[in-house]
Amino acid sequence: MKVFEIAKGATSLDGLRPGERPEPKPGPYDVLVRMRAAALNYRDHALLTGHYPFNVDRNVIPCSDGAGEVVAVGRAVTRFKPGDRVIPTFFQIWIDGAPPKNRAALGAPLDGTLAEFVSLHEDGWVAMPPSLSFEEAATLPCAGPTAWNGLMRGNPVKPGDTVLCLGTGGVSMFALQFAQAAGARVIITSSNDEKIDRARKLGASGGVNYKTHPDWEKEVLGLTGGRGVDCVIENGGIGTLQRSFECVAWGGKVSLIGVLTGTEGSANPHGLMFKQANLHGIGVGSRASLEQLIQAMEVNRIKPVIDRIFPFDQAPEAFALQASGNFIGKIAITF
Ligand SMILES: NC(=O)c1ccc[n+]([C@@H]2O[C@H](COP(=O)([O-])OP(=O)(O)OC[C@H]3O[C@@H](n4cnc5c(N)ncnc54)[C@H](OP(=O)(O)O)[C@@H]3O)[C@@H](O)[C@H]2O)c1
Repeated sequence: MKVFEIAKGATSLDGLRPGERPEPKPGPYDVLVRMRAAALNYRDHALLTGHYPFNVDRNVIPCSDGAGEVVAVGRAVTRFKPGDRVIPTFFQIWIDGAPPKNRAALGAPLDGTLAEFVSLHEDGWVAMPPSLSFEEAATLPCAGPTAWNGLMRGNPVKPGDTVLCLGTGGVSMFALQFAQAAGARVIITSSNDEKIDRARKLGASGGVNYKTHPDWEKEVLGLTGGRGVDCVIENGGIGTLQRSFECVAWGGKVSLIGVLTGTEGSANPHGLMFKQANLHGIGVGSRASLEQLIQAMEVNRIKPVIDRIFPFDQAPEAFALQASGNFIGKIAITF
């Protein structure tokens, strides 16, 4: 079968190469899927360019995200049958409840979805949302639960709240849509005024350009009449965290998600104590959270924000667009 692989030790876009692998044979509990679409996350780009925090000691098929059609099932499988449309869960396998310590993710360390066929344990797939295309559904497994849990875990976002999303990538655009469906208003930060306009058209009530306003937390406080925001979707990480602490409201939460500014540095959470605000670590999410957000998307008729769809053979161009930052929401690949 045709695949793309990230070469062991890759440090640049050249490390993504087309390859051939044997078609997987499903074991008794496995579901074999002909992939119809895949989608990219910041993490795939980090892996390819040598910025991923864990070593991958072999050539790996990238991408955690995808969608496809079941073509064969093992003899003990009860959850799916040939012809079913499915998407994988990011972690193989975290079904519900507290996160298990050893969680194997698709796209590293496990082989991912940029392959014609993928075989996984039946518990590592969920039914595709019926209202979405393969390309749309393919964008859900990583950024979807991350945004959902950033909003809903701990003290969940509620009607009348204000949510701040940092940047206009995949996690932020899902968070924008889910927060609005929950009755919250959304402020977005971006490096680019045109992207802020696009986010406004998707329903953001306010936007701050963090390049022209390096003290963006002051702008956010201004937009909320000095009150601050109830939830920060913190995609920036250590380089933005202190500013997020400054503009979170009393009793609010900062959902720590991203590493866009790296992992080294310092931030002082002391002020959260006075505000009785929370700092909440997010690690994508369980299968149950993916299933919950699918329900919410179906009821609210939410469609993922896809900037561009590339054909399979142009996967390197898709990765180059991810690297450029010239997109909002998701980048998908169609097979
Ligand atoms: N913890 C988890 O479970 C989890 C899960 C998924 C993703 N993540 C992490 O979350 C982050 C976002 O992931 P993603 O897949 O949504 O990324 P993405 O789609 O590649 O989007 C990244 C966007 O973030 C913005 N950005 C870049 N640097 C920024 C900064 N210094 N401050 C604010 N915004 C910045 C840019 O938007 P503008 O051009 O508009 O500024 C960029 O386009 C990444 O660090 C990723 O590793 C973590």
